[in-house]
Amino acid sequence: MNQNDQQNTTTIQPHVLIFPIPFQGPVNCALKLAELLCLSGINVTFLNTEHIHGPLLRHTQVLSRFSRYPNFKFDTVPDGLEHEKPVSGDGFMEVMDAVDKVSKPLFREMMVSGKWSRISERPVTVMIPDACFSFAVDVAVEAGVQVVCFETVSPCCMWTSYLNLPTLIEAGDVPFEDNDLDRLITTVPGTEHVIRRRDLGSFCRSNDLSDPVIELIVKEAKSVPRAQGLILNTFEELDSLILPHMRKLCPNIYTIGPLHTLHKTRLTTNPTQPSQETGFSNSVWKEDRTCLSWLDKHDPKTVIYVSIGSLATMTVEQLVEIWYGVVNSEKPFLWVRRPGSIVGEYDESRIPAELLERTKEIGCIVDWAPQEDVLAHQAIGGFLTHSGWNSTIESIAEGVPMVCWPYFVDQQVNSRFVEAVWKMGVDMKDTCDRVRVEKAVRGIMDSKDNVFAQSANTWANLAHESISKTGSSSTHLGRLVDDILAMSS
Ligand code: UDX
Repeated sequence: MNQNDQQNTTTIQPHVLIFPIPFQGPVNCALKLAELLCLSGINVTFLNTEHIHGPLLRHTQVLSRFSRYPNFKFDTVPDGLEHEKPVSGDGFMEVMDAVDKVSKPLFREMMVSGKWSRISERPVTVMIPDACFSFAVDVAVEAGVQVVCFETVSPCCMWTSYLNLPTLIEAGDVPFEDNDLDRLITTVPGTEHVIRRRDLGSFCRSNDLSDPVIELIVKEAKSVPRAQGLILNTFEELDSLILPHMRKLCPNIYTIGPLHTLHKTRLTTNPTQPSQETGFSNSVWKEDRTCLSWLDKHDPKTVIYVSIGSLATMTVEQLVEIWYGVVNSEKPFLWVRRPGSIVGEYDESRIPAELLERTKEIGCIVDWAPQEDVLAHQAIGGFLTHSGWNSTIESIAEGVPMVCWPYFVDQQVNSRFVEAVWKMGVDMKDTCDRVRVEKAVRGIMDSKDNVFAQSANTWANLAHESISKTGSSSTHLGRLVDDILAMSS
């Protein structure tokens, strides 16, 4: 090594580029990882596509928290989308298409010859893209940069329905449209007795292998094993059924979940922590915190929390069925009704008067809640959820049993694991009637010897241990930081 080489080597700073897919859940998660890396002294650039960046930055909480890190920077890449376009599940591929057509070539340019290339002032040393950006692995190879993928959907879905998708297709298990949904899937190691057709990722129900979502996931299944590592938002015990199998394909897995509690713990024990008032959330939308005072008025474990996350939608008919089920369970309820989450025109005159009256007595409805705080509130005794991965792991961390009504992508797998593997709730997938909802809500919340609540409590304790100083998730985070430093030298 000559003197110049030596100088270059010693002056290169570890610089991680985090590039999440532009949706509320993944961005929220990726920001938590970014903050943990900043706290470890690593330089971080957080790359958003433009349409998600505007609403995120207007959120003073995110801005004020991140402005305290001199080693953190936001950057954006155009996506050609109308700014602040409301996104629901049916707009998923539109956003992904825009990223593919507009953002991907610009991103490549930035990495290969532009502002983050090896010859730039502040070169990127390690890239952490969302695992679903398969193109990022190719760009990293071309740019000579190390890459560690971050998967924000559940590991149980990633294993059964992403990494095994090529195998499922080859075995003729996928696609299956809507036929024989109770048939067991026996080709995925580890879940042979658990997963039926109806429990695979929702895209497997297609009748067409050229479906763009299937193509996207097949690409991911091929690209992720080429990366130097894979970060998962889980903890070792929770996914012990599948992690040994995943490691055969992707040996270097970092399990750093529940990420939101690891993040919160690290921040509260750090001298530069934000005050309690600014909170820990990176929510893209404004949270209505008044529901926390409403919860304060209720006894422990008496309230059912209802939310279908940031992308799922329901019809008015489904809304009425779930509403009746919840009201008939006689439990007080806190319900998030995200604007745009009811398909078509929501007209209150179509809602039975008895539901509206009962809601005034025992309900609280908000547009968007501080969910992590809601689930941690002692009044919450159950969660009727769409089974998004963040919602699921947030509920696991707080020991809240769930009624699952999955909508799409990984949610079908998550709800199955909640019922059949973790035994902490009821999976209502593919059904929506008031009697079933009432029974399920009562089932997870009634009686002292409730098995769901007991399992939920056990998982919450294990989750808590995993983020303790010597717990598995803390150890994996430490290893990730060490590896980033080693990859940057
Ligand atoms: C989902 C899936 O989780 C993801 O895995 C899938 O591939 C795409 O769809 P989303 O609908 O965002 O994403 O659900 P979820 O993962 O549960 O994330 C929702 C996030 O929003 C959670 O972190 C939750 O705390 C937060 N949230 C939700 C709020 O802050 N307030 C609310 O009122 C509701």
